Amino acid sequence: MVGAVAGIDHGVAVVAVSSRLLHALIRPPSRSLERCELLHLPRTAFDFERARAQHDAYGQALRDAGVSVTVLPEAPKLPDAVFVEDAVVLLDECAVLCRPGVASRRAEVDLIRSAVERIRIVSEIAAPGTLEGGDVLAIGRTVFVGRSTRTNGEGIEQLRRQIAPHGYEVREVAVRGSLHLKTAVTAPAAGLLIANPAWIDASAFAGFEVISVPPDEPFGANTLPINRRVLVAASAPRTAEVLTMRGLDVRPVDISELQKAEAGLTCLSVLWAR
Ligand code: GLY
Repeated sequence: MVGAVAGIDHGVAVVAVSSRLLHALIRPPSRSLERCELLHLPRTAFDFERARAQHDAYGQALRDAGVSVTVLPEAPKLPDAVFVEDAVVLLDECAVLCRPGVASRRAEVDLIRSAVERIRIVSEIAAPGTLEGGDVLAIGRTVFVGRSTRTNGEGIEQLRRQIAPHGYEVREVAVRGSLHLKTAVTAPAAGLLIANPAWIDASAFAGFEVISVPPDEPFGANTLPINRRVLVAASAPRTAEVLTMRGLDVRPVDISELQKAEAGLTCLSVLWAR
């Protein structure tokens, strides 16, 4: 679970105590990232050294925010394995191993399994269900799940059944224009969402204040709230301004080379508080 913690009571977002994020898993990109899955972007020339340097700087941004970072081994046979978030949904009480919606990414789950089993009781999504962590936005006990090209209804139902015993309520959100739910909406602060309303059914978030990204920064909504900071992609400076004006401590992080692979800030780590 990432960042701000809020609940919904009588239609009004209410603030609860935020968990302090202490740990992260990340995995460096390999040269095979140039063969990654792409859904909405055209394939363009990819500078591996630059991607690697940006990933290192991302890891440092997590450390600077007070997080202890475990760097998993590079996975050259799995082009998208740098996007560790998609393989697991990690909550305070349990973890659910995902079943990615594209076959090329399914082996990423076994690759992260042992690291997750060391910290949580694990269950998993089985065929025909598909679920990717990028489609899961957990805000307190409410878990919003995007129904996307990667996450299907069966995957959402399996997640619902697996986390309900721990007190989580799953709410489905239609995703219509982005790779994942969290490409289109994140929660940079308690009770506050930033979204690209063109890509999701924002009515699912009744009770929250929803700020729209500036029209020329459609990818700006993928923010990463982490302890008292909010990481924002350096490619979205106007989004950063909007959030700074809201009093948030915004830190730009340049992931431009990784964004060629449809990366967001959230998908590059798995974060947990305890
Ligand atoms: N390249 C990220 C994805 O399509 O899964």
